[in-house]
Amino acid sequence: MTDGAPKEFDLGKLLAERGAERYELHSRHLNHQLPRMLRTIGFDKVYERAEGAYFWDAEGNDYLDMLAGFGVMGLGRHHPVVRKALHDVLDASLADLTRFDCQPLPGLLAEKLLAHSPHLDRVFFGNSGTEAVETALKFARYATGKPRILYCAHAFHGLTTGSLSVNGEAGFRDGFAPLLPDTAIALGDLDALERELKRGDVAGFVVEPIQGKGVHESPPGFLRAAQELLRRHKGLLIADEVQTGLGRTGDFYAYQHEEGVEPDLLCVAKALSGGYVPVGATLGKDWIFKRVYSSMDRVLVHSASFGSNAQAMAAGLAVLSVMEDQEIVANARRSGDLLRERLTALIGRYELLHDVRGRGLMIGIEFGRPSSLKLRSRWTMLQAARKGLFAQMVVVPLFQKHRILTQVSGDHLEVIKLIPPLVVGEREVERFVGAFTSVMDDAHSGGGLMWDFGKTLVKQAVANR
Ligand SMILES: Cc1ncc(COP(=O)(O)O)c(C=O)c1O
Repeated sequence: MTDGAPKEFDLGKLLAERGAERYELHSRHLNHQLPRMLRTIGFDKVYERAEGAYFWDAEGNDYLDMLAGFGVMGLGRHHPVVRKALHDVLDASLADLTRFDCQPLPGLLAEKLLAHSPHLDRVFFGNSGTEAVETALKFARYATGKPRILYCAHAFHGLTTGSLSVNGEAGFRDGFAPLLPDTAIALGDLDALERELKRGDVAGFVVEPIQGKGVHESPPGFLRAAQELLRRHKGLLIADEVQTGLGRTGDFYAYQHEEGVEPDLLCVAKALSGGYVPVGATLGKDWIFKRVYSSMDRVLVHSASFGSNAQAMAAGLAVLSVMEDQEIVANARRSGDLLRERLTALIGRYELLHDVRGRGLMIGIEFGRPSSLKLRSRWTMLQAARKGLFAQMVVVPLFQKHRILTQVSGDHLEVIKLIPPLVVGEREVERFVGAFTSVMDDAHSGGGLMWDFGKTLVKQAVANR
């Protein structure tokens, strides 16, 4: 305590006084490559406010969000029901996180979540997607008594060391060895799965039902067949639905698209937060939890200081309630079908546009080698410098000219991924398709600003080698 009148902490004043320094502060104190990258591609905006699928800059321009904060904004920004639940939980002054009592909200959220995967019985709450995956990896090892985890090439399950050990991309792994001795198989390769299982040391197989990187679906029947093989060899099926879960793909969980699939462990995070309070959840079968927490001595054997905190639980409960009331899953399916249909119709029109895929509101747009000589030399120049530059050439004008935020779906990929908030409808679909058509028209004209920008990207890529 200091003498005199207590100083009030005034967030509004702090932001008003220092908000303009945001890019400098990041350059100085945080990951300095972020502001550098944003400046390079002209994404260094100052946004003033946000709501639903939009945010606005200081001049009042609206930006359509087709990225949803990497998927956490399932309901869009500042959903009034989630916001009210958070106000309510703060106002309730609960005796939260005593750690030696049982609070009602975690139980209620677990009950509600489990209703969407009735074959599962229990939930562990952590604080992020990667933590949900780490939990599943630990539980699988402990419950089966076996050490090895299988995962898919190109998989993404988070960036902490356990999750990194099942990451299928060298760009993320390189330089962080030693990782755990896990093994990659190709998505859909049942022979490889069986070969590895036969070695008898596999605790589980972790898989995204639709891979985030490149938006690749597992082939029809693969999850079911993988599950049968795993059961035969006493390994667990771990579904990572951190991105695909909670309606993203037009089903509540993407694994539900295929009849008869019942993962033993299920990882959820992102959208459960309502875009407000980080949360992760690992759902699993009763016997798995009973093995991990086999005695009173082991009550804290896997735990997290912030796990089950009241704000996260309140946000999660509000999210699930809105999903039901506003039929969010059905909307994701409807809007996703419409968007994919409209984009697929453009494939014949644009030689650089090769594929539109995905389910619900998880859509991949893939570009590829053009057929005409005129465009082919430009395409080849880009590919020689670095794969993925054309997709970046599309993302940039979508943002700068049309104020639509998208992302390239992973390094060295000519794929754009669309994962907008699940509340988008016809208006957003039309805006995106109109903008995309205009960008494709520019690209296929073979000249102009877009290809000039391509040349700049080539120079940068060469300089960065
Ligand atoms: C499938 C999947 N698993 C795990 C994660 C990691 O989640 P988090 O960033 O919350 O740790 C992600 C993040 O993008 C993801 O897409």
